Amino acid sequence: MTTTSHDWPSYKKRIAECGTADALVAIEHELLGRKAGVLTLALKELGSLDPDARRTAAMDLNEAKKTLTEAIEAKRKELMSPSDGTLKESDGIDISMQLPKKQRGHLHLIPQFIREVEEVFGRMGFDTMAGPEIETEDMNFNLLNIPAEHPARDAQDTFWIDGKKVADRKDRLVLRTHTSPVQIRYMQSHKPPFRAIFPGKVYRKDADATHSPMFHQFEGLMIGKDINLANMKSVMVTAIRELIDPNAEFRFRTGYFPFVEPGLEVDMRWQGDESESREGKWLEIVGCGLVHPNVLRNCKIDPEQWQGFAFGFGIERMIMIKHRIPDLRSFYEGDLRFLRQF
Ligand code: PHE
Repeated sequence: MTTTSHDWPSYKKRIAECGTADALVAIEHELLGRKAGVLTLALKELGSLDPDARRTAAMDLNEAKKTLTEAIEAKRKELMSPSDGTLKESDGIDISMQLPKKQRGHLHLIPQFIREVEEVFGRMGFDTMAGPEIETEDMNFNLLNIPAEHPARDAQDTFWIDGKKVADRKDRLVLRTHTSPVQIRYMQSHKPPFRAIFPGKVYRKDADATHSPMFHQFEGLMIGKDINLANMKSVMVTAIRELIDPNAEFRFRTGYFPFVEPGLEVDMRWQGDESESREGKWLEIVGCGLVHPNVLRNCKIDPEQWQGFAFGFGIERMIMIKHRIPDLRSFYEGDLRFLRQF
C-alpha cells in the first residue's frame, strides 16, 4: 500500500469550491477525522514503509496536510464573514420576507387585569395582600358580622368542606364565598391607618352567563381618621374610570351587606350579546360601604377612633363590561381564539 495514491490537489479544489459551512466540515472530517480521515490514515501508514520511501512520503504528506489545513481555515473564515458584512440578494436571502409570527404565550386576561388593578390602586397608596381560598366559617362569616342563621348567608350559596371534625362550629371550613375575610386578616395583623386591596378567587354555587362557581374579586379596605362616604365614592369612581372606561356610565344604589353600614352597590351598563338593547342592561360590579363598627371591634380596632370603608369588585364583570364580552364562561374555557384577543 502506498500513500502517493491520493489526489491531494483534488481535495484542495473541493475546499475552494465549497459553499456552506456544513459541506466544509464534511470535507474536513473526510480528510482529518481522528479515526478514518484519509490523511490521518495515510500518516499512520508511514510506519510500515521502508526508511527511504518513508522519508519522501512523510515530506509529501506533511506538505499536503499543511496546504489542506490552511485551505480549510481560509475557507472557514470566508464562509463566516461575507465580504462587506451585509446580506445580499445573491446570498439567496430575501430580507423583506415576513416570517410566520411566532406564537408566544402571555398572561390570561384575568391576571393581566389584576396587575392593572394593583397599579391603579398602588398609585392611590393601596398595599396588596393575598389570603387563603379555604377559610374558616368564623373568618368568612362570623367576624364579618354574619352570624349563623343570618339570612345574608343564603345570598352566598356556600361550598362547605367536610371531612375534618371540628370541636367548634366556627372552625368549619368553607371555600371562601368572597374576599372579605382578607379584610379581617389584614385588620388583625396591621395597625390603622392603612389602605389595601386583596385580589383573588372566590367560590359560590352559581352558574349562568353572568355567574360562575369560581370567579375573581378584589376587596379593598381603607381605615383612618374621619374617612367618610365621599372618600369612598371618589375611590370607586377613580377605579371605574381608570380600569374600565373614562366615560363609563354607572349608578350608585343602596345595598345591604352585614359588614358595612350604610351599604351601597354600583351598577354599570353592559352591552352583552347582540340581542341586548343599545343601552345594554345594568350589571352590579361592586358592593361597598362604611365598615360596620362590629367588624372593627371584632378586629380590636376602636370604632370611636377609626373609621373607613370597604368594597368588593367583581373582576370578570368589570372585564366583561370593558371588552363587551357576552358570556362569563369564556374566561375559563381555554379557547385560544378568545384568549389571544387580549
Ligand atoms: N363581599 C361582598 C360580596 O361579595 C362585597 C362587599 C365587600 C360589599 C365589601 C361591601 C364591602 O358580595
